[in-house]
Order: sequence, then structure tokens, then C-alpha cells
Amino acid sequence: MRDLVILGAGGFARETLDVVEAINAVAPTYTVRGFADDAPRDLALQRLSERGHRHLGGIDEVLTAFPDAGVVIAVGAPVQRAALASRVEDDRAVTLVHPGASIGSRTTIAAGSVVCAGALVSTNVRIGRHGHLNPGAIVGHDSVLDDAVSVNPGAVVSGDVHIEAQVLVGANAVVLQGLRIGEGATIGAAACVTKDAPPRVTLVGVPARVHQTTGKSHSS
Ligand SMILES: CC(C)(COP(=O)(O)OP(=O)(O)OC[C@H]1O[C@@H](n2cnc3c(N)ncnc32)[C@H](O)[C@@H]1OP(=O)(O)O)[C@@H](O)C(=O)NCCC(=O)NCCS
Repeated sequence: MRDLVILGAGGFARETLDVVEAINAVAPTYTVRGFADDAPRDLALQRLSERGHRHLGGIDEVLTAFPDAGVVIAVGAPVQRAALASRVEDDRAVTLVHPGASIGSRTTIAAGSVVCAGALVSTNVRIGRHGHLNPGAIVGHDSVLDDAVSVNPGAVVSGDVHIEAQVLVGANAVVLQGLRIGEGATIGAAACVTKDAPPRVTLVGVPARVHQTTGKSHSS
């Protein structure tokens, strides 16, 4: 069993705990030592405690206190996740794939990524570091997701799509085949993206249109 600390204490952190528990039910693999968050909300602490887990402290403090533990960054907002990744040594990042996810042949999932129950990843897909595939997310054949991309519940990334780093694909959104989505873009919930997207825009609607240029980081 390898010790594991989960960075973040919110909803996706507990979803990540679900993934760990499902992996452990198949083969005991990880001992969750607890959660690290620099500013956890009271409700988050309460919900962790209801799961029998605790907040261990701030992120740097916990990374130092558990030097041998594996680490997963369970913060939904891609930009914040990428910032945290720079504080975690490369060899500590653990990849977690729920046994109820489907992963196609010749697909690679880089360190630090979390794939939730019901996610479907097709063949010859590359998922970068610290990616989040939420429950029911679909990634089509031959697609490439760069580092710290979030695909929210039910979203569909079609085949041959290239999603650059730190993009958030909102719940139930669709990205049509062959497109490129620029770094740091946000695709709103239920949008249908029909054209390439430049970096850092927010797109909403069907067909998707630019909603605002944002410096703001959207969370899942
Ligand atoms: C698109 C999004 C990033 C915009 O967030 P925001 O900048 O905070 O926008 P606001 O909530 O302030 O809304 C601004 C306007 O955009 C509209 N809007 C927000 N999200 C929208 C969406 N997905 N599609 C269409 N319109 C949307 C709002 O109705 C509002 O319109 P108004 O000005 O006419 O009242 C966000 O709403 C979104 O869809 N995020 C993804 C959420 C998601 O995936 N959730 C699942 C979590 S697991």
C-alpha cells in the first residue's frame, strides 16, 4: 500500500476519494493519509469528516510532512491545478483511474491525472499530466489533451481534437471533431464548439460563441 495525500478539500477531492476507494476494492493499493488545502471551507471540512477523513493542513506543510506519499491534485479549476502542480515534485504524482472507466487501446494517461467512474476514453488518446476526466466524460479517438485539462461530467470531446493546457470543458459540452482549443480557454456548460478556439476565451451556446475574454479561473 502506498501512502497518498489529496490536494484540495472540495467536491472533486471527495470524488477522487471515491476513485481511490474503488481502486482499493479491486486491489488494495493506496492508504489515504488525508487532505491538504490552504483555505478549506467549513462545509468541506464537515463533509470530509463525514467520510472519516481529515484535513491535514496547508499544502506545503503536508507535502513536507509526508515526503514519501504519492500526491494527487484534486482541484477542479485547471489554472489553479497547474499552479499547484509546480509545487509537487514530478515523481510524486499518482494517476488514478476508476475501474468503472473505459480506456481504449494505445491510450496514455500521464501522471497526476484522475479518471472518474463512467468516463469513456477511446483509442490512441493522449491525456496529459494532472488531467481530470469527470464522471461520464467522453474523449474520442486520436485526441490529445495537454496538461491540466478538465473535462466535466457528460462532456464530449470528439475524435482528433487537440485541447491545449489548462482548458475547462464544461458539463455536457461538445467539441466537434478535428478542432483545436487554445490554452486556458473555458467552454461553458452545454456549449457546442464548432470552430477552433483561441487561447483564454470563454465560449458558450450552440453553436458556441465567445462570451468573454477572461483571466478568471473557472472551477468544476
Ligand atoms: C460559461 C461559464 C464559465 C461562465 O461563468 P461566469 O463567467 O461566472 O458567468 P456568469 O455565471 O456570471 O454568467 C454570465 C452570463 O452568461 C450566461 N451563462 C453562464 N453560463 C452559460 C452557459 N454555460 N451557456 C450559456 N450562457 C451561460 C449567464 O446566464 C449570464 O447571462 P446574463 O448576463 O444574460 O445574465 C460558466 O457558467 C460555465 O458554464 N461553467 C462550466 C460549469 C460546469 O461545467 N459545471 C459542472 C461542474 S461539475
